Amino acid sequence: MKVSVIGAGSVGTTCAEYIAIKSIASQVVLLDIKEGLAQGKILDLYQASTLLGCSTKLIGVTNDYEPTANSDVVVITSGIPRKPGMSRGELIGINAKIVDSVTQNILKYSPNTIFVVVSNPMDTMTYLTLKKTGLPKSRVIGMGGILDSARFKTYLSLALGCPASQIQGMVIGGHGDKTMIPLARLATYNGIPITELLTTEKLEKVVSDTMVGGATLTSLLGTSAWYAPGAAVSFLVESILGDYKRLLPCSVLLEGEYNQHDLCIGVPCIIGAKGLESVVDLKLNAVEIEKFQQSAQMVHQMNHSLGAVL
Ligand code: NAI
Ligand code: 2OP
Repeated sequence: MKVSVIGAGSVGTTCAEYIAIKSIASQVVLLDIKEGLAQGKILDLYQASTLLGCSTKLIGVTNDYEPTANSDVVVITSGIPRKPGMSRGELIGINAKIVDSVTQNILKYSPNTIFVVVSNPMDTMTYLTLKKTGLPKSRVIGMGGILDSARFKTYLSLALGCPASQIQGMVIGGHGDKTMIPLARLATYNGIPITELLTTEKLEKVVSDTMVGGATLTSLLGTSAWYAPGAAVSFLVESILGDYKRLLPCSVLLEGEYNQHDLCIGVPCIIGAKGLESVVDLKLNAVEIEKFQQSAQMVHQMNHSLGAVL
């Protein structure tokens, strides 16, 4: 199986690294527009792989799409990241043009690929990819909710003093500080509802920490995070290539589900060999429905600012 990762920056390289180390694909191509960057990262990774015991074939290229031919999955991380104080939405103008040109180039060589969109604002970039390529919704999947859920689980495990591996929890809605919806009501500590284990105050703190999880890292690091984003992308790619049918929150086109139309936003999805295999229409309560509608409205507004690019 072959995966191409576009953008050899922090997220793209980390995601390529995890895909290689976990032997998720037999071949990984890393492409960047900056001369030599992807080749350098791949050479370094190849040398690391001799010590880490992975046998994935690794290729680094500068803006040459031919080596990406016949990719099963293409991950788009190209673009600019957030700087402290910036919202994901402020990246829209530059990243829309980059994502558009990347998808057109990819399709020349990999007409049957499945796109995983990471560049921000991710829900809008996923929508743009879908509209501009005309691909079926099963083949355009935005990654953001898996990362937000990882942050939610981390904050829950810290509040409970337990291993994060014992926590189940999901974040749906838009991938934005104001649009994401951590589903506290449904989260569990090994099957026990966390609402029975944490006070309302502590739970509210977990939810608000999760919602600004990306911004917290951006202010600590001076740019946005990469380890958890890279791991989240590789987890999604693994479910596609292994046909694992994992239930994951992904940004996909809604056509009536959750009462929404013509919008890509995070909802629980079954992810397998065909990409998006189905959307799980979760029964939300009245408060969650209200939050989801507000989130959807904000993502629609963001999509409107695509303007001429669309
Ligand atoms: P980065 O700046 O480290 O890497 C971006 C790379 O894209 C750079 O190396 C740049 O040269 C390359 N690039 C720019 N234009 C290109 C083009 N036309 N073709 C090929 N490569 C091109 O940024 P980082 O931290 O890797 O973040 C990448 C994107 O992912 C950002 O938009 C960021 O906001 C987003 N992100 C999304 C997350 C999510 O959960 N959806 C999580 C973390 C980051
Ligand atoms: C993150 O959540 C900025 O989307 C990026 O870390």
